[in-house]
Amino acid sequence: MSTHIGAKKGEIAETVLMPGDPLRAKFIADNFLEDVVQYSSVRNMFGFTGTYQGKRISVQGSGMGIPSLAIYTTELIKEYGVKTIYRVGSCGGMSPDVHMRDIILGQAGTTDSSIIENTFGPNMYYSPIADFELLDSAYHVAEEMGIKTKVGNIFAADRFYNDEIDTQKLIDYGVLATEMETSGLYLLAAKYHVRALTILTVSDHLLTGEAMSAKDRETSFDEMMRLALNTAVK
Ligand code: ADE
Repeated sequence: MSTHIGAKKGEIAETVLMPGDPLRAKFIADNFLEDVVQYSSVRNMFGFTGTYQGKRISVQGSGMGIPSLAIYTTELIKEYGVKTIYRVGSCGGMSPDVHMRDIILGQAGTTDSSIIENTFGPNMYYSPIADFELLDSAYHVAEEMGIKTKVGNIFAADRFYNDEIDTQKLIDYGVLATEMETSGLYLLAAKYHVRALTILTVSDHLLTGEAMSAKDRETSFDEMMRLALNTAVK
């Protein structure tokens, strides 16, 4: 068993869906997977393995922010041999081109987290990017499902509450939306030579001030889950 995931070797599938919220992990397992076994409840950061259309898939909560996601991602990859991770989560729309409930595929990750500098030193501005095969596949699976996705740059904020950041500048430079994890996920995927893709639903919007309730967020992401799962079995 790893330090933060209470699973035995072999209990986690090579493909993992990773929502931030452990209750969303339970929701996915309960509503989308068959033959589900819960392999972890350490710190209530639930993890489940089941099948979707016959393929073995796990769902693991990551918690909020890059530090928490990095713990679970690193253990999944290093201790359990995970090869493909789909982050499924919510985001705050930034660009006027994205709207509430839109589904966004994270092509690249911008961040004000120190993880890039901690990895590369002060003068190297590494760009974490999605795995192209997963991105391409998700984009086309979405088209087949009749879902119009937006594809682009996601800003992983180091702080949820931050009135010091120049949001407008990020919007001007084409950033679509903000959450708190994608850059860290893509960086770790590159480090360990595994594949990762972030799929997000817009749950609030920085420009308009619109926001979904927490309950809505927990249950209203069916389309995104189906897209992630249908891509995973492709
Ligand atoms: N996740 C969902 N909405 C968010 C926002 N506005 N900022 C950061 N993370 C988010």
